[in-house]
Amino acid sequence: MTLPDGVERRSIDRRSAVLATRGDPIGDEGTDGPWREWDPNRSKLGAMIEQGMDTGLAGGDTVLYLGAAAGTTASHVADFAGPTYAVEFAARPMRDLLDVAESRDRLFPLLKDARKPETYGHVVEPVDCLVQDVATRGQARVANVNERFLTADGRLLLSVKARSEDATRDPAAVFEDVLETLRTTYEVLETSSLEPFHQDHLGVVARPLK
Ligand SMILES: C[S@@+](CC[C@H](N)C(=O)[O-])C[C@H]1O[C@@H](n2cnc3c(N)ncnc32)[C@H](O)[C@@H]1O
Repeated sequence: MTLPDGVERRSIDRRSAVLATRGDPIGDEGTDGPWREWDPNRSKLGAMIEQGMDTGLAGGDTVLYLGAAAGTTASHVADFAGPTYAVEFAARPMRDLLDVAESRDRLFPLLKDARKPETYGHVVEPVDCLVQDVATRGQARVANVNERFLTADGRLLLSVKARSEDATRDPAAVFEDVLETLRTTYEVLETSSLEPFHQDHLGVVARPLK
């Protein structure tokens, strides 16, 4: 799989070929000069790339990122993408996200609820890529209501956490239900388990039906 421009495999801390982007490191991330390690164990999108999924990311893309938390992954995205709108509804991680955005002029944190796209629709331009990692019940519905921001040939890069939908059901059955809801709005292009990096998570690449 071709990596987006701005993402490389580097030797970091005596490990070869680890994913990395160029930007200010966060916390204890390993570095190689200007490069910072992108750890797939801490990032669903990193895991999707490690699984060889065809994300369609090229570098310089406009991105809407839903569920940014403290910005671990959103910061990597902003290191190689174009404008990156990062939606997070919890105040505590938002404080850290604001710190992370300080050194990144393409990262725009938004303290908003991803279930209510009408509250940030006036800020976000059409995007090439919608990354979603909200890990709450109703993950497919969140992706569906945010489809409006994607260009016709854009991509949804979704991480589905089975336990967030129903901790008691078989993850495979949960994933089937989520995919069925998604298919009302998207054509699903590819799915992959994110194990061994993330247990009971499904990575999904999809494009809007419009
Ligand atoms: C698994 S964490 C995200 C981790 C992050 N994507 C990363 O890789 O660094 C899920 C985040 O989604 C946020 N979240 C859940 N539901 C949300 C919603 N409806 N709107 C905005 N953020 C939401 C949670 O507060 C949490 O910070």
